[in-house]
Amino acid sequence: MADAMSQLTHLQVSGSLKLLERSTRRYLNIEKAPRSKLSGCSFTRKLKISLLLGRGSFDVFSRQAGDRGRVIRDRIVLPPMATELATEKGEVINALISHHRARDPDRGGTGMVIVEHSYVSDEGKRSKDQLGIHRDELIPGLRKLAKAIKDEGAVAIIQLNHAGAKAPPEIIGKRPVGPSSVPVPGGEVPRELSVAEIEEIIEKFVEASRRAMEAGFDGIEIHGAHGFLLSQFLSL
Ligand SMILES: Cc1cc2nc3c(=O)[nH]c(=O)nc-3n(C[C@H](O)[C@H](O)[C@H](O)COP(=O)(O)O)c2cc1C
Repeated sequence: MADAMSQLTHLQVSGSLKLLERSTRRYLNIEKAPRSKLSGCSFTRKLKISLLLGRGSFDVFSRQAGDRGRVIRDRIVLPPMATELATEKGEVINALISHHRARDPDRGGTGMVIVEHSYVSDEGKRSKDQLGIHRDELIPGLRKLAKAIKDEGAVAIIQLNHAGAKAPPEIIGKRPVGPSSVPVPGGEVPRELSVAEIEEIIEKFVEASRRAMEAGFDGIEIHGAHGFLLSQFLSL
């Protein structure tokens, strides 16, 4: 039974991810791009998934340019690291831009910068001053951030996240949601999502991808690790 359950959950997750990829391709009008052109699409051991926005791909190892004409200047990637340098509404503040500006080539700039996890919906928020990507009003600030990273010569990626059962009630103002009513260690018992709600969350990721593209990011990374919603599908 336990085996069957974990297989089922696994199937649900890969199903959701496939759907997400499909929706992202549709939304970004890259339906006809061959699958290989979606990479990044790195499915790392931590289940962080990177998808490039628009037509074109980067190869971190060969530093080849994608169709968008961007070359990765070295093989070093700055991983996403939450800074809490945003307002309570999720807006970019100048300190976050300065933080990324400080990573110029003279100071050992990285070829690719993955901006920290940003929340795709209010109920997926993890912490008070977390960066947001859940509303169109946030795009101008995100645009400044993407520009600062690209001006320094790096490829700019942003990570998208939904904290699921790890969203603290005192932050989101209600009970968190999850794939089942099994809590994460130390967390609140989450409210189990319906299938329709899961579809809505997929759309939130799609909308967030669109905002990332409009803000000028070269790609997105979907957070599937660290016990947040997507990894909860694997283990709760
Ligand atoms: C302060 C801090 C904040 C972090 N924030 C994030 C984050 O927002 N998203 C994420 O996927 N990983 C986050 N991480 C994890 C780093 O990305 C992770 O350490 C990096 O991927 C290197 O992985 P490794 O330690 O397994 O080699 C954070 C790590 C630190 C130290």
